[in-house]
Amino acid sequence: MNGLSTAALTELEREIDAPGDGLDRLRLVPTPFVPEVRLHLAEDAIVWWARMEAAAGRTLPPPFWASAWAGGQALARHLLDHPHLAAGRRVLDLAAGSGLVAIAAALTGATQVVANDVDPYAMAAVTVNARANRVRVQARHGDLLDDDDTQADLLVAGDVLYDRELADRVLPYLRRAAANGTQVLVGDPDRGHLPWDVLEVVASYPVPTTEPSVDSPVRRVQVLRPR
Ligand SMILES: C[S@@+](CC[C@H](N)C(=O)[O-])C[C@H]1O[C@@H](n2cnc3c(N)ncnc32)[C@H](O)[C@@H]1O
Repeated sequence: MNGLSTAALTELEREIDAPGDGLDRLRLVPTPFVPEVRLHLAEDAIVWWARMEAAAGRTLPPPFWASAWAGGQALARHLLDHPHLAAGRRVLDLAAGSGLVAIAAALTGATQVVANDVDPYAMAAVTVNARANRVRVQARHGDLLDDDDTQADLLVAGDVLYDRELADRVLPYLRRAAANGTQVLVGDPDRGHLPWDVLEVVASYPVPTTEPSVDSPVRRVQVLRPR
């Protein structure tokens, strides 16, 4: 972890230890579709974000790590139900958020799990969540999308195709990884940027979602791989 992530970790640990409850608090809860994994999630991520920004007196990145995203939940479920995918392998969780998928990989016996994200608070969340689930996950802060070598046998990416600009960078990265021999799995509920010509479906799950601003309590989510 770098300095930014260490400062975020101190802040999150203070949040977790703070007394009281309410919509603006974090709670350690079983993940709806992956109850084997407990995560520190916000009761209401928007309310938590507003309080933290007010306290910091500056803008903070949206706390994506404080929700269990549908894509990550499907991918984590898939790893736990097919333990051979990660067991004995080096796993990279790209855009890890809370670290849910990384933790699922560690629980099934991956030899090394790296969770990457550009948000230092996500790196802090990965650390506290790995601790809560008694697994080892290495937090790697930064943007890897221009790299060529994943240094992993399995690359997992949950709900990372939520934005056109990001999808346009992620997809070439995933294709390069696959071309270099890394197995690639994506979990995605199709937020309008899923390239069906580039990815093919491996499995499909009905995922209860805790995301903010979603009408239906269940989303159909695909696990996909490059064609
Ligand atoms: C919708 S969240 C999904 C988090 C997690 N994978 C899950 O399924 O719960 C997307 C994540 O992508 C991260 N992200 C955005 N751009 C990124 C980049 N260039 N490299 C790594 N992570 C990035 C965000 O910080 C956020 O944590």
